[in-house]
Amino acid sequence: MNRFLTLFIAILISFTSCKNETTTSTSVSINRGVITEKAMVVSARVEASNIGVEILKQGGNAFDAMMATEMALAVAYPYAGNLGGGGFLVYRLADGSKGALDYREKAPLASSKDMYLDKNGNIIKDKSTVGPMAVGIPGTIAGVFKAQKRFGKLDIAAILKPVIELAEKGYNITKKQEVRIAEYDSIFKAVNGKEILYNKNLKAGNTIINTSLAETLKRISNNGRDEFYKGETAKKLVTYLQSRGSIITLEDLAKYEAKWRDPISFQYDDLTITSMSPPSSGGICLNQIMTMIEPFDLKGFGHNSLKTIQVVVEAEKRAYADRSFYLGDPDFVVIPVETLISDIYLTERMQGFTYQNATSVEDISHGKIVSYESDETTHYSIVDPFGNAIAVTTTLNGGYGSKLYVEELGFFLNNEMDDFSSKPGEPNYYGLIGAEANSIAPEKRMLSSMTPTIVEKNGKFYMSVGTPGGSTIITSVLQTILNVHEFELTMQEAVNAPRFHNQWLPDEIRMEPNSFDKNLKNQLEALGYTINESRSPIIGIVDGILMLEDGTLEGGADKRGDDTAVGF
Ligand code: DON
Repeated sequence: MNRFLTLFIAILISFTSCKNETTTSTSVSINRGVITEKAMVVSARVEASNIGVEILKQGGNAFDAMMATEMALAVAYPYAGNLGGGGFLVYRLADGSKGALDYREKAPLASSKDMYLDKNGNIIKDKSTVGPMAVGIPGTIAGVFKAQKRFGKLDIAAILKPVIELAEKGYNITKKQEVRIAEYDSIFKAVNGKEILYNKNLKAGNTIINTSLAETLKRISNNGRDEFYKGETAKKLVTYLQSRGSIITLEDLAKYEAKWRDPISFQYDDLTITSMSPPSSGGICLNQIMTMIEPFDLKGFGHNSLKTIQVVVEAEKRAYADRSFYLGDPDFVVIPVETLISDIYLTERMQGFTYQNATSVEDISHGKIVSYESDETTHYSIVDPFGNAIAVTTTLNGGYGSKLYVEELGFFLNNEMDDFSSKPGEPNYYGLIGAEANSIAPEKRMLSSMTPTIVEKNGKFYMSVGTPGGSTIITSVLQTILNVHEFELTMQEAVNAPRFHNQWLPDEIRMEPNSFDKNLKNQLEALGYTINESRSPIIGIVDGILMLEDGTLEGGADKRGDDTAVGF
């Protein structure tokens, strides 16, 4: 995109952010997003950002605000916010210590490697994506409670109070939600066999009240985490699931635990980047790509220039090829992490790269692919007044997950089982190829691309960033960091900038339509790259917080969604 157009969009978006601002942000400059002094929440919904900030203002910290924001997203952003899904947290405490929490869904005890294959060994269409067999054991409640219990300061009841009020009083749906709900209208009816809360011909501005979810949250508020996994809610959930033909049992729920993990940390120039470790591929792939591109003068080449795109795409290809073969749940498979992220290996991996032509995918590894789509997870970033920062990405996988809606409990269930490799070499919904490392086994976690990331500069907190986007998550986070670090864009400009993506297979560069110069695309095609602008109208919905030199915080809230930065 030419510089003038980028600037124009950035200015437009800065004004939009300014107008939407509902709390006490201190100032907004032309090319920057919302600026605040002490604390900030950036999420997919203004209601969720506001509730997170309300908790911070009550003296809560980032982990209290995490629980509030995540639950508020479950109310006001049911497309991806959830109780019936899972996610990952990467944190950096004020003292500089870092860590990660894995609350990814797990395969049910009764699951098996070939559960999505027919007797001829072919994949049964839709079985891993829609309805009861697509559902993995939800991890979200375990995750937000585990993080809050270890680091939070407030009572659960105080944290959930504004969320319960939101569910009871309702929230107004946006134009984007109206469009989305209409798109899913028929599949909601088909999967649930009846109309659900979201089948009401809803228009922007209409209020959605979710009393069932308010009741579920009240029980969780009173009884704690185990209400979801062992209590009345667990029983209602399993009764419902089994009535729909699911293999999930009370034992599955009772056995679920979120897990602390060591995140992946690496250097890129003077930045220390910390991101999610397996069972997400995010941290390893980001590390691989950034180490492969570090020797190149991207800044000299220019933002979204021919050479920059070539270098980044070729590194992405190689990382995604490794992802498909080596990565899976570390509790089940041995991943050669040290080798995969080592300088020697990655230098060797880039050896075949030349500016003269695209490296063929066969020269990198093997696989076959058909189709994919995306954009239904959600990310939020929080910085609290105590100096703690978190990056959290959470998902139901597809939009509204499996589309199964538990009416009595007021939430959708995930279709995360599709993130497993149902059959080695066959692509999943995102076109990602998997191998044995990501095959299905009871209690195993499916491989993810979610990349909640914290960046430090000179030992201090610098950025919290992440995005939805299935397989494009990793490359969207990558570009956002590069946009700030290499190309000196503001946080909001970095989020706004047009994005491209390559994932090894299919052998193409996906680009956001009407965003890249025609001449640039012609040059790439002449070098042997295939460009696909029709697959993804948008790539990612990035949210981030950047600490500026004067210690203030800049929010980058992606207007590809309804995302909003709020702070004080
Ligand atoms: O964990 C993953 O990688 C996917 N289930 C994420 C799905 C996603 O981002 C959907 N939205 N675009």
